[in-house]
Amino acid sequence: MKYTTNSLEQTQKIANDFVSTLLPKQNGAVIVGLYGDLGAGKTTFTQHIAKIFGVEETVTSPTFVIEKIYELAGQNFTHLIHVDAYRIEKSEELLHLGWHDIISDSHNLILIEWPERVADIMPEHIKVNLSHVFESSREIEITL
Ligand SMILES: Nc1ncnc2c1ncn2[C@@H]1O[C@H](COP(=O)(O)OP(=O)(O)OP(=O)(O)O)[C@@H](O)[C@H]1O
Ligand SMILES: [Mg+2]
Repeated sequence: MKYTTNSLEQTQKIANDFVSTLLPKQNGAVIVGLYGDLGAGKTTFTQHIAKIFGVEETVTSPTFVIEKIYELAGQNFTHLIHVDAYRIEKSEELLHLGWHDIISDSHNLILIEWPERVADIMPEHIKVNLSHVFESSREIEITL
């Protein structure tokens, strides 16, 4: 699916549609790879998704901590895990944060920015490709 958005409100609607397609799997976490340049909107898209799942905390970019875990209540998933691989130099850094356990738990929804930085340890995942078109215009392509 390919969308064009011209505002944060439209991006929120796209996030809404996307979330309605997300169902837990039998054999591990649902993993969403967020691809796109600096400022394309990966963190913003994650914030929209967190809001839909009822996360009340402020979702900020985990650039320095790499990973943040939010507990969800009354949802199909029990945890929303936001990863930012931008500063990762070796995939082992993510393995040290319990990556294998996280990805094998069907209750987890994992959103990972810069997944190409850890491509060697990325399991099969949904790809969300964001691109900056102009000012507030963004293209969002989702490949399930
Ligand atoms: N239509 C839109 N959809 C999403 N974000 C938009 C839109 N228009 C403007 N923006 C703005 O674009 C910026 C996107 O920044 P964001 O931090 O989400 O990017 P990012 O892809 O996570 O970058 P980084 O690689 O640095 O982590 C935000 O300031 C957001 O408000
Ligand atoms: Mg970001």
